[in-house]
Amino acid sequence: MSLIDNIPALLDEVKQLTASTAEDLENLRIKYLSKKGLIPQLMGEFREVAAEQKKELGIRINELKNAAQEQINALREQLSQGGESEEKPDLTRSAYPTPLGTRHPISIVRDEIIDIFARLGFCLADGPEIEDDWHVFGSMNFPDDHPARDMQDTFFIEAHPDVILRTHTSSVQSRVMEKQQPPIRVICPGRVYRNETISARAHCFFHQIEGLYVDEHVSFTDLKQVLLLFAQEMFGKDTKIRLRPSYFPFTEPSAEMDISCNICGGKGCSFCKQTGWVEILGCGMVDPAVLDANGIDSTKYTGYAFGLGVERITNLKYQVKDLRLFSENDKRFLEEFQSA
Ligand code: DAH
Repeated sequence: MSLIDNIPALLDEVKQLTASTAEDLENLRIKYLSKKGLIPQLMGEFREVAAEQKKELGIRINELKNAAQEQINALREQLSQGGESEEKPDLTRSAYPTPLGTRHPISIVRDEIIDIFARLGFCLADGPEIEDDWHVFGSMNFPDDHPARDMQDTFFIEAHPDVILRTHTSSVQSRVMEKQQPPIRVICPGRVYRNETISARAHCFFHQIEGLYVDEHVSFTDLKQVLLLFAQEMFGKDTKIRLRPSYFPFTEPSAEMDISCNICGGKGCSFCKQTGWVEILGCGMVDPAVLDANGIDSTKYTGYAFGLGVERITNLKYQVKDLRLFSENDKRFLEEFQSA
């Protein structure tokens, strides 16, 4: 069979040529278009055919030659742009890594504290950050003109003197007691606000966790044991606690609790001001006046309460020297807690 009879098949063939390397492409050019290639050979055969067939055959050979040339040019173009194989998506390639955010150190520590108390049977409770005077002060045994109110620099709303930003989570104690009778065993994490000048050691908002346990026969011993367990879970089995007498309007007796400094192990360092102890919370037995003010019979029930600062605990755990870092959203700071 002569090449001339093969023109339709050849035409199909050249339109489907592929090349993945420059070498493949050169081989195709040689095969079809070089001096000894198929198309010049066809030209040779063309010279032999009868004159009356020449016109039509000439057109078909030209068509084939152009198609071969065009296809080879297109393949050359494709290869110069990185080649056909690059353009197809590689379905076996692994996905691009997605950068994960990190949890905020305050959230990490808050959840750790919640987890410890949850294991001791405490439930979660919460209340509003925008509060009224009664829940923050009145129900917590601060008389109207009591100087204890000066301990906390409150943000007031000028047009509504009764509406304030809560200065402590103790307000949630009242929110819980007015709705629920004992036994009550809750912890209340939340944000609190005080009108303080912002510095490395003070901020106008921070986080507290309040604890409240009210039932029959709740004693100071129960309080001390729970707090010791908390301190050892949080800071390690060798941690010691000490309670110092203190004053809060809502507890009687009241105490402040120190733990043995977990940075120097109690030997004395700059963090604990060489004392070997650091204060971490306030606590006490719920004042009977607070129980009564919130609808709980103080002749039948007793309770303990405590309140701790999450920033304080976080500072101890991670030695963050400047409180402002917690609210500046500096990625370099936040990324340090990636593995926490
Ligand atoms: N509300 C206190 C404060 O913000 C902390 C506190 C002290 C809470 C003693 C208590 C407590 O429940 O018993 O400084």
